[in-house]
Amino acid sequence: MTSYSFPPEFIADLRSRVDIVGLVSDYVALTKAGANYKGLCPFHGEKTPSFTVHEGKGIFHCFGCGVGGDAISFLKRIENLSYPETLVRLATRTGIDISPYERRRGSLAAQEKARSEREGLTQAVACAQDFFVRQLQANLQGKVGGYLKKRGISPEAARKFGLGFAPDAWSALKDEFRRRRVDEKMAVAAGLLVQKEGSNRRYDRFRERLIFPIRDVAGTVVGFGGRSLGDGEPKYLNSPESLIFNKRRLLYDLHHARPAIAKSGSAFLVEGYMDALSLYLRGIDNVVATLGTALSEENVAAVKRYTRKVAVFFDNDRAGRAAAFRSLPLFMAQGIMPDIVLLPEGVKDPDQLASGLDDSGLEQALTRQMPLFDLFLSEKGIGLTAYSDRLQFLREVIEMIIRLPDEPLRGMALRATAESLHLAEEIVLDEYRRLRRSRHKQTGRRGNSSPSETTARPDLQGECRLTGGSGSPLPDEIVLATFLLFPMLLEEFAGDYRENVENSECRRLFQEFEACVAEDGDLSQRLFVRGEDDSLSSLYARLLNLPAPAEDLITARKVVADCLLSLRQRKTSRASRELDRELTGCSDDEQMFELLRRKMELKKRLMA
Ligand code: UTP
Ligand code: MN
Repeated sequence: MTSYSFPPEFIADLRSRVDIVGLVSDYVALTKAGANYKGLCPFHGEKTPSFTVHEGKGIFHCFGCGVGGDAISFLKRIENLSYPETLVRLATRTGIDISPYERRRGSLAAQEKARSEREGLTQAVACAQDFFVRQLQANLQGKVGGYLKKRGISPEAARKFGLGFAPDAWSALKDEFRRRRVDEKMAVAAGLLVQKEGSNRRYDRFRERLIFPIRDVAGTVVGFGGRSLGDGEPKYLNSPESLIFNKRRLLYDLHHARPAIAKSGSAFLVEGYMDALSLYLRGIDNVVATLGTALSEENVAAVKRYTRKVAVFFDNDRAGRAAAFRSLPLFMAQGIMPDIVLLPEGVKDPDQLASGLDDSGLEQALTRQMPLFDLFLSEKGIGLTAYSDRLQFLREVIEMIIRLPDEPLRGMALRATAESLHLAEEIVLDEYRRLRRSRHKQTGRRGNSSPSETTARPDLQGECRLTGGSGSPLPDEIVLATFLLFPMLLEEFAGDYRENVENSECRRLFQEFEACVAEDGDLSQRLFVRGEDDSLSSLYARLLNLPAPAEDLITARKVVADCLLSLRQRKTSRASRELDRELTGCSDDEQMFELLRRKMELKKRLMA
C-alpha cells in the first residue's frame, strides 16, 4: 500500500473543500431543518432525529449521544478508519490530487530498518521465553519450585501463565542464544544481556528470578518482569524500554483478559503481576495490571476499547490510595468514572485477599466497591477547613469534570460534588459554567472568531470545535497546534514551553516535533510511518483538526504568549499548593522558614 505524508496545509485545504452534507448523506437520510440538516444518528440507536449537520461550519453534532466533529472525524468514525486512511479516502472523493504527498524512498528504508529491528528483538525475547519456561520445568524440585509452592502457584498454573525461571548463572541464557544463533546485539537491546560499557563482555541480566512474561495484545511476548526469590533487590527487575516494549502502552495480561473483560463487561485494574495472577487462579480473569508505573493515558485508552466499567483495585495503603486518586483525572478525561474496590482492614493487597478467602468469600469481597470520584470527594474534601482551601478544591474538582466528554456524566458528577461539599447545586453549576467559559477564552481564539461561532449555543461550543471529543483544547494543545502552523515561533518560545508544558502527551509530541524540525524531517511522516505510537499520532491528528488558533504570525505569537503565561501561572500555583501541603506537615522550625521563604519567592514570581 502506498503511504502518504500530509502537511497541515493540505488537511486544512481538504477540510474546507469537502462537502459535509454530501458525505453524511451517503450514510444518513438528511432533511433540511432551518439553516441545518437533520437525521437519525448513525452512531447510536434513536427514533427521533437529533443528529445535526451544520453545512456552513462543516461540522456535525448529535444532541443525543454527544458525538461531534468535522467531515474527517465523521468518515473516520463511521468507516472505522485510521487517520491517514481517512484523509486518503476523503481526498480521493473530493478530487484532490494526493500524488505529491507520496512518501519518499528514504523513509521506506527507515521503515524497513525499524521493522527488522522489531523482528530481531521479538526473536530474542521469544528465545528467552522458551528457555525460561524450560528452566522452570527443570527446576521444580529446586529453590524456585519451593517459591512457587510458598505462593500457592501450582506447576499447571505456572504453565498456563507461561511463568519461567532464570537460573542463577551469568551465561545460561547467553549460551542458549549462541546455540540458537540469536544476534547478541539484539539480546542486549532487548535487555536480556548486559554489556559493560567499553567492553565486549556480555552476561545474563536476569539471574535467579521467577519470570513473568509480558505480552502485547496480540499475545506476543515482548518483555519480562523477574521476581527475586528472596529479599534480593530490586524485588522485580523489568525489561528496559525498547522498540517492542513500551510500559506506557502495555498492560500486564490484557491479551488474556480481553475476552473475559468483553464477556463480563467490566475490568479490574491492579498494581502487581502477583495480584493479577492470584485473582486469575481464583477464577477472576477480567484483570489487568500496570507494569509498575503510573497509569498512562494509553493504558486507559487500551482498556476503554473493551469496557468503560473499570474498578481500580490497588494496595490497601497510602501509596495505593494515592495512586488511585492520581488515576482519576486520567480516567475521567476519557469518559470513564471508575469504581474502587475497598479491601478489608488488614488485608494488604488483592493477592492477599484472593489467597485468603474461599470462592464465595472472594466474590463477596469484590462487591465492596464505590465510585472512586465519590471517595475522592469525601476523602480529599472532608479534611479541608479553610474556606480558601475548600474553594480551591471545588475548582480542582470542576476542572476534572470539565474534561469529562459526556454531558450526562458531567451532570452526575456536578451533583455529587454539590452534595459532598454541602453546596447548592446552582452554585456549583455557576462555577462550572464560569470556569468553562474562562477556559475557552484562555485557550485563545481571539481575533479569528467568526460570527457563526459566537452565536453558537454556549453549551455546545466545546464539542463542536473538537474532533477528538475529549473536551476543549488545553493551553498545552493550543500552543502545540500553533507551533505546527508557525514553526518559526519555536526559536522564541520553545524553552518556555518545554519548561511549563503540563500534559505529558503534548510534551512527547513536542519533543518529536523539535527533533523533526532540527533534522528537517516531516512530523506526520515520522508518526504515521513509524506507526508505533498511536496516541501521539492521534494527538497530532486532533491538533491538526482544531480550528487554526491563528491565521497570521502576529496573532499566533500573541496566542502562544498568552497560553504560556497561563501555563506559567498554573505551574507556580501548583508549586505553591505543594509548599502549603509541606508546611502543614512540617514541625521543624528551620525547615518551616525555608518553606516560607520559597513561598514568598513564588508569590513574587506570580505577581511579576
Ligand atoms: P508490589 O511491590 O506491590 O509487588 O509492586 P507485588 O506484585 O505485590 O509482588 P509480591 O506479591 O510482593 O511478589 C507492584 C508492581 O510494581 C512493580 C511490579 O510491576 C509489581 O508487580 N515493581 C515493584 C517493580 O517493577 N519493581 C520493584 O522492585 C517492585
Ligand atoms: Mn503488592
